[in-house]
Amino acid sequence: MTGIPRSSARCAAPRRRLRRGVLLPAALMLVTSCSTGSDSGKAGADGAGDPLFPRLGNGGYDVQHYGLTLDYEPEGNRLHATAVITARATQDLDAFNLDLKGMKVRDARVDGKPAGTARKGTELTVTPGTALDKGREFQTVVVYEGVPKEITDADGESLEGWVETDSGAAALGEPTGSMAWFPGNHHPSDKAAYDIEVTVPKGYTAVANGELKRKEVRGDRATFSWHNPEPMASYLASVVVNEFEVTTTKAGDLPVYIATHPEEPAAGPRMAKLLPRAIDWASGLFGPYPFSSAGAVVDHNEYVDYALETQTKPYFDEAPTDAIVVHEVAHQWFGNSVTPRTWRDMWLSESFAQYAEWMWEEKEGGRPVQRIFDDFYSGKDPESSGIWAFPPGDPTPETIFDPPVYGRGAMLLHELRRGVGDGVFFAIVRKWVADHRHGNGDTAEFVALCEERAGRSLKPLFDKWLWGEGRP
Ligand code: ARG
Ligand code: ZN
Repeated sequence: MTGIPRSSARCAAPRRRLRRGVLLPAALMLVTSCSTGSDSGKAGADGAGDPLFPRLGNGGYDVQHYGLTLDYEPEGNRLHATAVITARATQDLDAFNLDLKGMKVRDARVDGKPAGTARKGTELTVTPGTALDKGREFQTVVVYEGVPKEITDADGESLEGWVETDSGAAALGEPTGSMAWFPGNHHPSDKAAYDIEVTVPKGYTAVANGELKRKEVRGDRATFSWHNPEPMASYLASVVVNEFEVTTTKAGDLPVYIATHPEEPAAGPRMAKLLPRAIDWASGLFGPYPFSSAGAVVDHNEYVDYALETQTKPYFDEAPTDAIVVHEVAHQWFGNSVTPRTWRDMWLSESFAQYAEWMWEEKEGGRPVQRIFDDFYSGKDPESSGIWAFPPGDPTPETIFDPPVYGRGAMLLHELRRGVGDGVFFAIVRKWVADHRHGNGDTAEFVALCEERAGRSLKPLFDKWLWGEGRP
């Protein structure tokens, strides 16, 4: 399931720099960024054409399903794993790349036959015994093992990838962390279904996306089999291992699975009440909840200082505030079901999640949304610090999680709402969610939808709030 238009999904790495400020000459750039030789038309590109992270993802195929079988030993933090990747070739392929950081590759097969592998940086090149014709569905099996890597973000501080914690581990994927624990097409434009099976020592619980289909204890090991049928971007895939307590409940017909760290004893019952309320409220505003299960993981993680909207079960590094829960619940529509097509479109995910927090505050008897907007504009709200640093439509790899993408993006949504009126605004939001359900959406498509529904050009609004420098 691929969302970047074919034409741009090839070898677009125009922003790669050798060192800060030193642009590669165009001719050289072609050779280096397409080192697997996509010019011959036979090897898949080593990037998906992302403007901020050109090497993330790959070209030449479209993944339908990942089957991940992980055996994790917390003692020593070791993973033994097999990835079964079902994909369709979108061009003739004599070789293709997967993204994988660290880990030792033991074996690779394509359609059951031994395949060649070569590694360079985070690129794993797989060469099948027989070339694949365009349109062909094929299955790649990669057997790998090792101590999975922890990755420091481009922002220079936050941790992602496979993060070992005091009593377990958390796999966090945004934006580049998923390649630390499984090989794949790690770009948000290629979404796929997942089955994740994790074996851990008895006493541990392994949580992943979707529904728990089976728990099986054999000797001193326990296997948890998770089924996530709806398309998911790889940055939203997650495995969290710890000695969790588990609370299950329902939100309407939806099964809700909540895993809480023993150091956060109040979180289970609290989340069991709050999640169904937040999901019900959000469904009323945005349309039906997009997935077949819901839940949360409340960890006690000293190494990570953020929550993540991991699909169906957002991850919390500690017991969260209501606002953070509502933020991650809103992401299930914005970010998870409708996924930004590239990392530059990140504001389409974060601004809606932030705006949901504002609407929740108003509904719960706190400040009206307009007051929050005013407090952000004047700087009175402490969360508004830094929101004018750059235009939210144009972040860098270092700044995709910075305040303009969240706060100023939410202000843009509020200005849009004031401009077109509540009726048109919520019609736009619901149509956006319905049109791009389980797919991708980008800034141009959002602007086009808004203008179509408003019946006029909204260029001044977007120029001011999305593209303009400084405080409008
Ligand atoms: N998307 C997450 C949220 O808004 C934030 C993730 C921050 N990730 C990071 N690697 N710094 O809830
Ligand atoms: Zn967010």
